[in-house]
Parts: sequence; structure tokens; C-alpha cells
Amino acid sequence: MNILVTGGAGYIGSHTLVELYKAGHNVLVVDNLCNSSRESLRRVAKIVGIDEVPFREVDIRDRENLDLLFEENHFDACIHFAGLKAVGESVSMPWEYYDNNIGGTLTLLDVMRKHGCKKLIFSSSATVYGAATEMPIKETCPRGLCTNPYGWTKSMLEQVMEDMAKADREWRIVLLRYFNPVGAHESGLIGEDPNGVPNNLMPYISQVALGKREYLGVFGNDYETVDGTGVRDYIHVMDLAAGHVAALKALDIKDGVKIYNLGTGRGYSVLEMVQAFEQENGVKVPYVIQGRRAGDVAICYSDPSLAQSELGWSAKRGINEMVRDSWRWQQMNPDGYSK
Ligand code: NAD
Ligand code: UFG
Repeated sequence: MNILVTGGAGYIGSHTLVELYKAGHNVLVVDNLCNSSRESLRRVAKIVGIDEVPFREVDIRDRENLDLLFEENHFDACIHFAGLKAVGESVSMPWEYYDNNIGGTLTLLDVMRKHGCKKLIFSSSATVYGAATEMPIKETCPRGLCTNPYGWTKSMLEQVMEDMAKADREWRIVLLRYFNPVGAHESGLIGEDPNGVPNNLMPYISQVALGKREYLGVFGNDYETVDGTGVRDYIHVMDLAAGHVAALKALDIKDGVKIYNLGTGRGYSVLEMVQAFEQENGVKVPYVIQGRRAGDVAICYSDPSLAQSELGWSAKRGINEMVRDSWRWQQMNPDGYSK
């Protein structure tokens, strides 16, 4: 298939490109590079053995250039990663998040339908479940109250896409609700490259292990969990990438909107992650217990069985591969893509 990949220079997008090439698809990446660099695409090209990944530096809010792109190319489908994703930042800059994520996606959807391209895979998030009352979380669990503007952009966009697919039966849309992506490609050439102080657990742990940060702050040890620290469903980014290739097949056979959780179905606590990282990699990760982080839930893990039964997809990599690959990427690229 010919696939437009928005946000393809980013963390999940770059890993998905590797799987798309492996499966024989053609891609064109659009990205405005607001949270990524061309270097990730050069590395993808190296991994898959091509000269370069076709790329256009375009902001998805830029209707004119997006339109031109669709005039010049035929796309069978779009995988839409482009968006802002920092939870804390979204609280202080809500307009920028609604403008970029909602404004950008509305423009993309409009240009797509104008050109008759009505197959889309959208990066959604477990965050749309809010404080879910069932665990593990199934796709039938209703969307809940989000605790930040970033989460609301995902929730609102899911609603927009459901309504559009109801009104126009030609749309085929897959909403993928990611749980917690971690890890990196096994080559160590591509990985997660956060700006400044990482918000997420795994890059923080890696930077502490490298000595860039003194210790990990563990946000609360008084939750009702195995050791009091928060439990999440961490999923290797290469498994997540493979989930997109599997979802492309669903676009051919299903109508309307389909929703799939992409997770492992297994939760790990913060301290279990720290321990696994230390043991697997033979490094120390000093930590300090701190207060709870506002907006965090105690436990969140998926029931991924629908993706297994309908897409034939399941996560293959375990916690040891997750921590090993994260560490390899961090060691080989102490300053991310800038070096
Ligand atoms: P990322 O920031 O690494 O990648 C997003 C990419 O989109 C970046 O390359 C950025 O430059 C680009 N982008 C942003 N706004 C754009 C715009 N207006 N026009 C063109 N390009 C734009 O993030 P990621 O971790 O790879 O996440 C990819 C998608 O998955 C995002 O939509 C994110 O919300 C979603 N998601 C991520 C996680 C996670 O923990 N990483 C979890 C759930 C969902
Ligand atoms: N944590 C710490 N210390 C840190 C960072 C995180 O103790 O320095 C803890 C958190 O309290 C939580 C766990 O580690 O218990 C995971 O936290 P992350 O920030 O890595 O991930 P979240 O589950 O909070 O959220 C992530 C993304 C969201 C996305 C969600 C579900 O940031 O955007 O996964 O996909 F919606």
C-alpha cells in the first residue's frame, strides 16, 4: 500500500516505518519536526537499507501544502501520529494542544476526504479511559473524564472520527489505544529522544542510569498495588509498530470505526521496572520516593485480546527486552539524535 505517515519522524512513527518497509509498503512522511529531527529518518533508512525515506516538512494544519501533497501522490491510507503529547505542557498550553492536535487532525481529515482517501489509523491512548473502573481494560469500557487537555484531544478526536464514519460509510478508521510505549529498535539506532527533563518513566530511568540525572523520583508508594507504586502496561515500541501493520489489514475488511487496545495485558510497578532495568543491564538506578503526581491513576493495564483475535497481533517482547533496548539506545545516543 501507499501510506502517508504523519509524524513519522517521531518516536513511534520512526519505529513503525521500519515495520512498514519490512512488510513491503511504500511510505511518505510528513512532519513539521517540532519534536523530532531528520536524523531519525536517516537512521530508519540505514536500518531498512534504502537511500532515504521520502519526506516533506509540512505542518498538518497547513491545508494548502497538504492538499498539494494529495494532488501529487496517491495514498491508499494514512497512519496519523502527528500531534503534541506532553501531558504537563498541555495543562499550561491548552490552546496550543487543541489547535495542533484537533485543528491539525480536522484539516487532515478534510483534505483526505476531498481526495477520496478514507482509510486512517489514528494514534489514540489509554488516557481516554480516564480512571477506568474495570481492570484489565477492554475496548468496551467507556471513555472517561480526562485529567488534562492532551487526553481530551484524543478523546474528542475519537468522537469526531466516530461521527464522521457514521455519516459517511466509506470511511475505514482504526483507533489504536496505546498503553505505555517503551524500548527502542534493537539496533540502538532509533529510540525515544525527549526534550529536556523526561516526563515518562523509562527515559528518566535511562538518564539516571547514565548519570545524567542524580536519581529517579518515584511518584507515590501508597497506592493499592503490589508495592505501593503505580502499575502500567508497558509495551515494546517494536511490538506497537507491528500493531500498525496488522491494523492496515483491518482497514481492508472492516467498515466504520474499529478500536483496539495495544498493550501486553500485564502490568508492572515503578519499582519492578527499576529492578528489571538494574538486573538486566547491570547498572544502578538510585531512586527517592516522592509524593503522588497529580492526575496519575494507581493501575492501568489492557485486555489486548481483541487485537489478538481480530488482527492476529499480540506483543511478543517482554520486560527484559524493553529495558535492554532502552538502555542500548541511551548508551549509544547519550544526547539523543543531536550527537
Ligand atoms: P513524538 O512527539 O515523538 O512524535 C510526534 C511527531 O509529530 C513528531 O515528530 C512531531 O514533530 C510531529 N508533529 C507534531 N505536530 C505536528 C504538526 N502539526 N504537523 C506535522 N507534524 C507534527 O510522539 P510519539 O511518542 O511518537 O507519539 C506519536 C503519537 O502517539 C502521538 O499522537 C501521541 O499523542 C500518541 N501516543 C503516544 C504515547 C506515548 O507514550 N509515546 C502514548 C499514547 C499515544
Ligand atoms: N513515574 C515516576 N517517576 C517519573 C515518571 C513516572 O514514578 O519520573 C511513574 C508514574 O507515576 C506512573 C508510571 O511511572 O505510575 C508511568 O508514568 P509515565 O509518565 O511514564 O506514563 P503515564 O502512564 O503517566 O502516561 C503515559 C503517557 C500518556 C499516555 C499514557 C497511556 O505519558 O500520554 O501513558 O498511553 F496517555
